[in-house]
Amino acid sequence: MGIKFEEKKQLFTLTTKNTSYQMMVDAYGFLLHIYYGDRTEEDMSYLLDYRDSGFSGNPYDVGDRREYSLDTLPQEYPSNGIGDYRVNSVSVINGDGTDAVDFRYEGYQILQGKYSIPGMPALYGKEGETLIIRVKDQVTGLAADLYYSVWEEEDILTRCVKFVNEGTEKIILTKASSLNLDFLQGEWDLVHFHGRHCMERQMERVPVMHGRMTVGSVRGASSHHHNPFVILCDKETTEDWGDCYGLSLIYSGNFAIEIEKDQMNHVRMTAGIGTERFAWTLEEGEEFFTPEAVFTYSNRGFGKMSSSFHHIFREHLCRGKYKHERRPVLINNWEATYFDFDKEKILNIAKGAAQLGVELMVLDDGWFGKRDGDTSGLGDWFVNTEKLKGGLKPIADGVNALGMKFGLWFEPECISEDSDLYRAHPDWALQIPGRKPNRSRFQLILDMSREDVRDYLFERMTDILDSANIEYVKWDMNRNISDVYSAKLPKERQGEVCHRYMLGLYELLERLLERYPDLLLEGCSGGGGRFDPGMLYYSPQIWCSDDTDALERIKIQYGTSFAYPIATVGAHVSAVPNHQTGRKTPLASRGAVAMAGSFGYELDLNLLTEEEKEEVKEQIKTFKKYYTLTHEGEYYRLTNPMENHLYAAWEFVSEDQSEALIHGMQMMGQPNNPSQHIPVKGLNPEKMYQVNGEMIRSGKSLMAGGLNFPRQEGDYQAVEFYLKEVK
Ligand code: DGJ
Repeated sequence: MGIKFEEKKQLFTLTTKNTSYQMMVDAYGFLLHIYYGDRTEEDMSYLLDYRDSGFSGNPYDVGDRREYSLDTLPQEYPSNGIGDYRVNSVSVINGDGTDAVDFRYEGYQILQGKYSIPGMPALYGKEGETLIIRVKDQVTGLAADLYYSVWEEEDILTRCVKFVNEGTEKIILTKASSLNLDFLQGEWDLVHFHGRHCMERQMERVPVMHGRMTVGSVRGASSHHHNPFVILCDKETTEDWGDCYGLSLIYSGNFAIEIEKDQMNHVRMTAGIGTERFAWTLEEGEEFFTPEAVFTYSNRGFGKMSSSFHHIFREHLCRGKYKHERRPVLINNWEATYFDFDKEKILNIAKGAAQLGVELMVLDDGWFGKRDGDTSGLGDWFVNTEKLKGGLKPIADGVNALGMKFGLWFEPECISEDSDLYRAHPDWALQIPGRKPNRSRFQLILDMSREDVRDYLFERMTDILDSANIEYVKWDMNRNISDVYSAKLPKERQGEVCHRYMLGLYELLERLLERYPDLLLEGCSGGGGRFDPGMLYYSPQIWCSDDTDALERIKIQYGTSFAYPIATVGAHVSAVPNHQTGRKTPLASRGAVAMAGSFGYELDLNLLTEEEKEEVKEQIKTFKKYYTLTHEGEYYRLTNPMENHLYAAWEFVSEDQSEALIHGMQMMGQPNNPSQHIPVKGLNPEKMYQVNGEMIRSGKSLMAGGLNFPRQEGDYQAVEFYLKEVK
């Protein structure tokens, strides 16, 4: 297993427990991609199929070999302008104005441990081995180091690229992908996760067509609309069976994942920073790192693929005290009060919650500056002492006295025009001189590429965080980037602003975590507008969606679960009628859905009936009881709510397979309700399990037969099965 180089054949093989990935340097120095799939240690280069194809030209140095074309051969990192007309991985403007890049192999190194990427989030850990392959354009001097890391147990590979200008003239990178994957065979579907505010990560499966398809964002954020995660799968692939390739980009800004099916029916997939609004100047000697791509192959369907991502993200992406420690059950005042609160109101919400077992009170938007609505105040990170007399300390102390932790909302990246900060520093906002900026939620965006802006935010945030015992921060971001212009950069470098913004954001987050290593950060962007692995590196949980309706959340959390582990999914029980959909769902169902995430409440619990309060108490106990099972166990999707609108179910199985929990919901009641069936997965076939303290069956039978979905009256009814091993 690991990384192997066969000198004679010039063959690189990366092997994990179940997969192999192969590439080969050929006689002309081109790095060809050979194979990625089921594990094999053999030379797979027989798969290369050389054919003379019309209008697919031949590199000069292959002489009269008309069957040799970069346009049809599978390549590791295809470039622009030298005869491969498919979607490429790198485009440039060279010093002479031309756009060609001709990368040829120069050498390789193998390092112990996992590489890191300066200033950017990436998987970490000693276990991963690193391979670096160097390719270079001999004419311009542009070199690229192709980085690979191999995670054997998890069946995960990663890639990123470092560009170095070793020439004498400046080179502008206009495309710098993190990865390219070429597939010679197969009939593929693309699975991707689109959406909108309050409706993120809706799973969609479409056939890969001839031509190009792109999943991406130009919004300056990974966005509600598309997630930097896709799956390429065989037409027949299901949850439990068939081939699929999952690809995730550890990046929170503009991205593009492009898929092309070409004349030969080969499929190519590239992923990296989005090319629109991207142009990065490399002066002589300068370097540029792409974000990291994380990918896996599974021959056991989506379930195995998700499991690989869940493990790697939980263990090697999320960091800090709360990586494994149970996060406190929280209550957030946003939907309980919106902007209308004072100290007494917040303490009253906290008191009611503390009595029921809630462990953290989060004070949301509205505690600072002149912020009584969403038109003003952003940027003025000074406590509004009219609302909160005496500042944050009395309120934090009051919450602590109830036995709870205290947490606070910030939206550091944004600025209101009606703020003292904007009046003092209008040039700190992204806007183009001579044009009126686009407003969104009445706010503009701070230029995070600027050090002085980040210093201001760091100074303000640390001042606030030091003023009281604040143990949690919700980091929100409520608009997308437009009017891209940084007053600090020269005109020829404006194409760098969006990426520099991201680097600035990551730098500020890192600085804060260095200062407060135990601080629990929850990412947020109008709900799940930046639910991506880049943010997970800093905030081990992210508010999954502003939509807390249990029925809608089933679909959102279903889509989210393909890449992201349960522990990362901020999920709350809120009031009914639901503020986003107006729907009324039972408290038990809202609880069951939220327990498949970082659990909390988003309402004033004082307003519940005594009976409901008892139910909340029980819910919290149940969440804690099953915490290890739900958050550290294996997660299984049992139904697909995008297709099955009648009922949904999902399952958690403990690592030792001694227990399992199935939660579900009857989504829609039917007349003369026919029987429904829940599949059961992941048990040990040899073990005996007792179901809900009653019948005892073997894991084998339960997985073969499944369970009957209880017959129930009405819509949105929750079901629960607890399976415990009996010896
Ligand atoms: C959007 C978030 O998703 C909400 O939870 C809340 O924090 C609001 N912003 C506050 O403005």
